[in-house]
Amino acid sequence: MRDDRDRWLTAQYAGAEDPWSYDSRWYEQRKRALTLAALPRRTYRYAFEPGCSIGALTELLAERCDRLLACDLVPAAVERARQRVAGRPGVTVREWDARDVWPDSGFDLVVVSEVLYYLDVVEAYAFCSRLAHHLAPDGQVVAVHWRRPADPHVLDGDRADRLIRATPGLHLLARWEDPDFVLSVLGRDPRSVAELEGLT
Ligand SMILES: C[S@@+](CC[C@H](N)C(=O)[O-])C[C@H]1O[C@@H](n2cnc3c(N)ncnc32)[C@H](O)[C@@H]1O
Repeated sequence: MRDDRDRWLTAQYAGAEDPWSYDSRWYEQRKRALTLAALPRRTYRYAFEPGCSIGALTELLAERCDRLLACDLVPAAVERARQRVAGRPGVTVREWDARDVWPDSGFDLVVVSEVLYYLDVVEAYAFCSRLAHHLAPDGQVVAVHWRRPADPHVLDGDRADRLIRATPGLHLLARWEDPDFVLSVLGRDPRSVAELEGLT
C-alpha cells in the first residue's frame, strides 16, 4: 500500500462486498451495457481490464474475448473477481498497480473503466504512454469516466477522458457523453465498423 488513496480503496472493500453496488444499481448495469455495446468488434483476442473491482464487467467482457487479463490494486477485489469468473477459460485475475510496468503486452482491447482518475496527472500520463506501448497494432481502447466529484479522485472524469484521448497514435472512434459519465472509444485504425465491413 503506497498512500492514502490505496488505504481508502482497501477500506471500501473491507466495509462492503460490493462497494459501488455494481450488482444492484441500474446506473452501473446501464453503464456496463453501453460499454459493451460500444465495442467496435464482435470479439477480441486478448483484452486487458485494469481496475476490475469485483469482476462485474469482467464476466461480461469474457464473453467477447478469447483471453482476458483483469487486474486490481486491492487484494480483496481480486479475490472476489476471481471467484466470479472461476471456471471461465482464458480469464486471469491478478493483483497489479496501474502505476507499475504493465503485466503483459499485445492487447487488442484495453478497457479503462472508472480507474484513471485515481492516478495523479504524472501517473496518468505514464499509464497512457504504457498503454500506447502495450497495445497491439490493431488495438482499441474503451475509456469510461464518472463526471461528477468523488473521493478520492485526483483527476476529474472529463480531464481523465481528455488525457487518454490525447494518447499518441490513437484515433477517436466513438463517444458517449451524458451528465453522469463520458465514454470514449479509441483505436489505432481510424476506420469505422461500416468502413471495415465495406458498407461505405
Ligand atoms: C470505481 S472502481 C471501477 C471498477 C470497474 N472498472 C468498473 O468500471 O465497473 C475502481 C477500481 O479501480 C481500482 N484501482 C484504483 N487505483 C488503482 C491502481 N492504481 N491500480 C489498480 N487498480 C486501481 C480500485 O481498487 C477499484 O476496484
